[in-house]
Amino acid sequence: MGFLVQLVAFILLPLLASMRAEDTINSSQPCDFRAIFNFGDSNSDTGCMAAAFYPEVSPYGQTFFHEPVGRASDGRLIIDFIAQHLRFPLLSAYINSIGTSYRHGANFAAGSSTIRRQNRTVFEGGTPFTFEIQIEQFNQFKQRTGKFFNQARKNSFRRHFPRPEDFAKAVYTFDIGQNDIAAAINRVGTEDSHAVISDIVEHFAEQVEYLHKLGARTFWIHNSGPIGCLPVAMPVHNNATNHTQEAGYLDQNGCINYQNDMAREFNKKLKNFVLKLRAKFLDASFIYVDMFSAKYELISNANKEGFVEPSEICCGYHKDGYHLYCGNKAMINGKEVFAGSCGDPSKYISWDGVHYTEAANRWIANRIINGSFSDPPLSLTHSCRAVPI
Ligand SMILES: *[C@@H]1O[C@H](CO)[C@@H](O)[C@H](O)[C@H]1NC(C)=O
Ligand SMILES: *[C@@H]1O[C@H](CO)[C@@H](O)[C@H](O)[C@H]1NC(C)=O
Ligand SMILES: *[C@@H]1O[C@H](CO)[C@@H](O)[C@H](O)[C@H]1NC(C)=O
Ligand SMILES: *[C@@H]1O[C@H](CO)[C@@H](O)[C@H](O)[C@H]1NC(C)=O
Ligand SMILES: *[C@@H]1O[C@H](CO)[C@@H](O)[C@H](O)[C@H]1NC(C)=O
Repeated sequence: MGFLVQLVAFILLPLLASMRAEDTINSSQPCDFRAIFNFGDSNSDTGCMAAAFYPEVSPYGQTFFHEPVGRASDGRLIIDFIAQHLRFPLLSAYINSIGTSYRHGANFAAGSSTIRRQNRTVFEGGTPFTFEIQIEQFNQFKQRTGKFFNQARKNSFRRHFPRPEDFAKAVYTFDIGQNDIAAAINRVGTEDSHAVISDIVEHFAEQVEYLHKLGARTFWIHNSGPIGCLPVAMPVHNNATNHTQEAGYLDQNGCINYQNDMAREFNKKLKNFVLKLRAKFLDASFIYVDMFSAKYELISNANKEGFVEPSEICCGYHKDGYHLYCGNKAMINGKEVFAGSCGDPSKYISWDGVHYTEAANRWIANRIINGSFSDPPLSLTHSCRAVPI
């Protein structure tokens, strides 16, 4: 008995001591992240939809990759700048099976993805990879890599996957909801938008809690951008309707107010939910990132920051009520039109009327990564520290 007590003391005490050392974290030390797992829509899709369906066309990717790589931009996305900031390789899409390594995480984001299931097919511009499916893909990824990691003896196999213990030391990033808001905007007047927005946030909440159950501990949650500022929807690129004359329809940047208001309502409800999570799960860190304000600040200061008017589109043909999207060809009024790129994407905020250029993404990433749009005001490298110890 005495021997056992001694043994226990001998084995356990150093262990407890080391655990205590870890508990009293020096909050000014950066987090020891091992991986990134990202969930979202086209704002952070790094090749999912291109791998699953049709490859992307030129001139997407022209600036950084010099070829289309399945990103909806001329170059890198915000998630790419996040990965680079953490000194990880750029994240591969989970379903991209060719020449990919998942050692430092995986990207489950899919273009046109929504939090709620929509009544749309892929060919109507939807995706089967809704938020719920992305979380389930992560669940499989975690289980299967864990099994494989334990079975594979050779390091040459193992080095393509995260270690099982890396999942708790990963940052989980989210950028989704914009397409749910777009769908709600299309149905304004036919449904109760407030109830719909609450429902979207509840669906988001459910999945995030499930991820916590699966072992996620650091959550970096982008709110939804100013959807009313997407140039393709602005009156300047459309045959203006009477609305344009109504007082308050547009803001000083030419953005559509009621659409931005829907994003603001979503963001407010999302933030409330993040605050609730923070109170509920004391072992996890939840950061709410005000992407709306970061993007809106860029749009409001476009000229000052070295960009052309924020309504201008670098790649695409959007005139006289016609919309020919970036990289497409069509006959318009008897003439063949190719929707190509502008001369210098680095001067534009909008790449294709819906998605941002690499230059804009860099501008935004530089500001969100250092925590100036975070609640609590923690930088990405300290985002694991919102734990109320
Ligand atoms: C925490 O870390 C910072 C930077 O590494 C250091 O300056 C500071 O003295 C540390 N504080 C404690 C209490 O260890
Ligand atoms: C999809 O369609 C069904 C039946 O028409 C409807 O009940 C449901 O609310 C729709 N879902 C969405 C997200 O619009
Ligand atoms: C625009 O307003 C005029 C006059 O108020 C009305 O006759 C017309 O139907 C409106 N057009 C649209 C597209 O709403
Ligand atoms: C938009 O308006 C212009 C000018 O009035 C007209 O020439 C064009 O045909 C319209 N486009 C569409 C798609 O209705
Ligand atoms: C973050 O970086 C931006 C751009 O360099 C700068 O304007 C801002 O003051 C920084 N914020 C913090 C909290 O460091």
